[in-house]
Amino acid sequence: MSAFIVLGAQWGDEGKGKMTDYLAEGADVVVRFQGGNNAGHTVVVGDKEYKLHLIPSGILYKNKLNVIGNGVVVDPEALFKEIDYLQGLGENITPERLMISDRSQVIMPYHKELDNLYEIARGKNDIGTTKKGIGPCYTDKFERSGIRVCDLMKKDVLKEKLKTNLTIKNDIITKVLGGKALDFDTIYTQYLEYADRMRPFVKDISVKVYDSIKAGKNVLFEGAQGTLLDIDYGSYPFVTSSNTIAGGVCVGAGIGPTMITSVVGVAKAYTTRVGKGPFPTELEDETGEWIREKGFEFGVTTGRARRCGWLDLVILKSAARVSGITSFAVTKIDTLAGLKKIKICVGYKFEGSIIDYFPASLEDLAMCVPIYEEFDGWDLSIADARSYEELPENAKIYLKRIEEFTGVKVSIVSVGPKRDQTMVLTEI
Ligand code: GDP
Ligand code: IMO
Ligand code: MG
Repeated sequence: MSAFIVLGAQWGDEGKGKMTDYLAEGADVVVRFQGGNNAGHTVVVGDKEYKLHLIPSGILYKNKLNVIGNGVVVDPEALFKEIDYLQGLGENITPERLMISDRSQVIMPYHKELDNLYEIARGKNDIGTTKKGIGPCYTDKFERSGIRVCDLMKKDVLKEKLKTNLTIKNDIITKVLGGKALDFDTIYTQYLEYADRMRPFVKDISVKVYDSIKAGKNVLFEGAQGTLLDIDYGSYPFVTSSNTIAGGVCVGAGIGPTMITSVVGVAKAYTTRVGKGPFPTELEDETGEWIREKGFEFGVTTGRARRCGWLDLVILKSAARVSGITSFAVTKIDTLAGLKKIKICVGYKFEGSIIDYFPASLEDLAMCVPIYEEFDGWDLSIADARSYEELPENAKIYLKRIEEFTGVKVSIVSVGPKRDQTMVLTEI
């Protein structure tokens, strides 16, 4: 039996989709525990590339159960678009393959509208959200006015809650934010249709996940976003609205911490981020541009160009601490091939001393100056390497430095988007 977590150690887009798909071969159940369709996870199987947002990345195996946990915010429109997309590619998405928690919060049209209008109202201080309604939906959850999947299943409950919520939201939308009121009947009719389609997939997932672990099955928890987008430990306020760190699994899937056996931190061999916010090792020069082009660093969900920079071990060390990461899966090391010199950040100079943790205050972070170590690069394309031995010596030195600094071993190295472009150094 094992219950292991695969989560992002940086600002998202580390290759969690690829690693989840790869590791899901040895799992029986794959569970998403937070986030929503703000995520964009790419999985490549053979010659086909799949873009997933809300559905767990284990879905491409026909015999695995994929679970959307209670910690996820579910946009039914996005859910069915994704199911239809997968059906169009020949995947039959049945309740045997996909389960949705009756406790998940539902993203409503007013959440998306508010996400958009708040961003406009913030002006130059906007967050750069994906505008999928994520923040407003989580706000309602904690404010206790959210509509859960179990509420959606009950016509009268939905009607009552939608009426109350829409009256308040329309006031905010029109009177505070200058937007256009949304129509009750349109939303109600639409969501009743969604409810009917969703019903066969809806279950108490905590029971299912718990029973699976107890029955000796392997359960993989797939993170969305990354450590620095965590609502508590990320670069607040330029974060998402959920707990992306390992602790999020317990609350977002309804299991206790003693059941978790290992935590795999997915780390890109360099750093990227989408949207606004601080980024100490950002490269706003031709090297950054070179990495973006070579690594094809463009967002899966919004298409925005990702900002690129050197690997920051302060971030990885912090991620290892807050999530109890037991090993790293290092991805996209192939992208760096061809650079003569490669830098790694091993600390920040801050107020006359050197720190190796990520400060809470953005003002403090802005004063941090990265301290770099410089490494010789490797020329050879390593996309064809299939074992650690086949990696160039300088790539091995690079990986060793990650292990030394963070005190966490590298268990997997990925040299391309495909399943077979993966080498396992130690079993998880
Ligand atoms: P996620 O959000 O963490 O699942 O990552 P994304 O799918 O948003 O972005 C990662 C991108 O890198 C995708 O296009 C993947 O297909 C691709 N990818 C994953 N691992 C590797 C790798 O080792 N090398 C290369 N070149 N691409 C990779
Ligand atoms: P995956 O799972 C990268 C970023 C947005 C924005 C901030 C808040 O593919 O790694 P939100 O819409 O969540 O309120 O936006 O978080 N963001 C991501 N960045 N990868 C993601 O997901 C992201 N999901 C949200 O760009 O800066
Ligand atoms: Mg992504």
